[in-house]
Amino acid sequence: MNSPIPTNSPLAPLAQDHVVGLAKLAALDKAVADLAAQGASPEALAVLADFRAFLDGPLARHFKQEEEALFPPLEAVMGRDRGPTAVMRYEHVDLLAAMDAWRSLADQVSAAPAGTASSAALELQRVSRQIIAGLGQHIHKEDNVLFPMSHRILPPATLEDVGKKMAEM
Ligand SMILES: [Fe+2]
Repeated sequence: MNSPIPTNSPLAPLAQDHVVGLAKLAALDKAVADLAAQGASPEALAVLADFRAFLDGPLARHFKQEEEALFPPLEAVMGRDRGPTAVMRYEHVDLLAAMDAWRSLADQVSAAPAGTASSAALELQRVSRQIIAGLGQHIHKEDNVLFPMSHRILPPATLEDVGKKMAEM
């Protein structure tokens, strides 16, 4: 984990999710390039299915943990309308919209006959790149700004509470 927070931090599971997420993005990047260049293959379609499961499961839970467990105590100190959590919330909404577009394009590409390159595959690559760049930068900001800041401004007991709440989600 290359996160500048302690490994025993209550926020460590979020940082660990980020490591997993970056690996999923790298696999997606390669798969959508293959799909756009060569058409559908079982390997690339399996990566799409895996990425969809990641969006629907771990990523949805992660966003919920941040929005409902971590952000509120930060906002109690810094306010909700401006500042880093407002940016993070906005980016979540933006990313979720791109992910909705991604799902419908992934459906189209998955339904295409094997070996046929399609305009949907090119569009899927475009939207995937948007997610890869957007989620990558979002993760970078959280790891390098939001999480260290959380450690500076939240008392240890509050961080422990955040960790407990997250574990229940
Ligand atoms: Fe995150």
